Amino acid sequence: MNRKYRKTVIAGNWKMNKTPTETKAFMTEFKAILPKGRWCDIALCVPAVCITTAVRAMRETRVGIGAENCNANPSGAYTGEIAANMLADAGCKYVIIGHSERRAMGETDQDVNAKVKAAMEQGLIPIMCCGESLEQRELGITNEWIAMQIKSGLAGIPEEKIRKLVIAYEPIWAIGTGKTATPEQAEEVCEHIRSVIRKLYGSKNARAISILYGGSMNERNAFELLAQPDIDGGLIGGASLVPEKFVQIIEAANQPTA
Ligand code: 13P
Repeated sequence: MNRKYRKTVIAGNWKMNKTPTETKAFMTEFKAILPKGRWCDIALCVPAVCITTAVRAMRETRVGIGAENCNANPSGAYTGEIAANMLADAGCKYVIIGHSERRAMGETDQDVNAKVKAAMEQGLIPIMCCGESLEQRELGITNEWIAMQIKSGLAGIPEEKIRKLVIAYEPIWAIGTGKTATPEQAEEVCEHIRSVIRKLYGSKNARAISILYGGSMNERNAFELLAQPDIDGGLIGGASLVPEKFVQIIEAANQPTA
């Protein structure tokens, strides 16, 4: 982290977990133990049907609610899909875009790019995900792959908008496997992502953009991961489903930075 130049963001991704009723119960518990200090931004990205409940429950707090996906089109005949303006109107502040679990369902870099643009047009903060598979890591093409995902995801996003976006590096082999990237592995790729942003948008923007790590981040390994200079927060799956664990990760972000 580096609080001097950029925001620290601790974001939860609930994936397909919790009903609206369970969301309400979580938020009550979470609110009761939420740290008062403001050393980081906090986001919880929840299933679409839980957004209203979550927004209502966290209205008086500093926790921003987010969605886990959006459609790139403004409206129309897309049965089952949700447009970015609907999310914004429902009270969302964030939206995860290009998660590897969605890419595995067929989402392409072009889709990701269109969704990032649609989200930004509605004033949502996209949390754009990238990450390599185990095979790609073993082939030694991690950096090239990530650079391609970032470049295509950001195609056509102008310089003045780039700081309104958050990037999440999530190595696919570390998601839900309990196999966290080492702090050094995670730092290496996050630093690389920043260098890609530097080439595209200049050093000031590269210094200002928040890059999160995701993949089996939990209350035990968060401190060390967040201590890395280019890891500006976390995108947390499993551990964000338990208020105490999520709060411990938020507390791990309260450490001295450069
Ligand atoms: P886990 O923290 O459960 O590994 O999930 C990470 C993730 O995919 C967050 O988007």
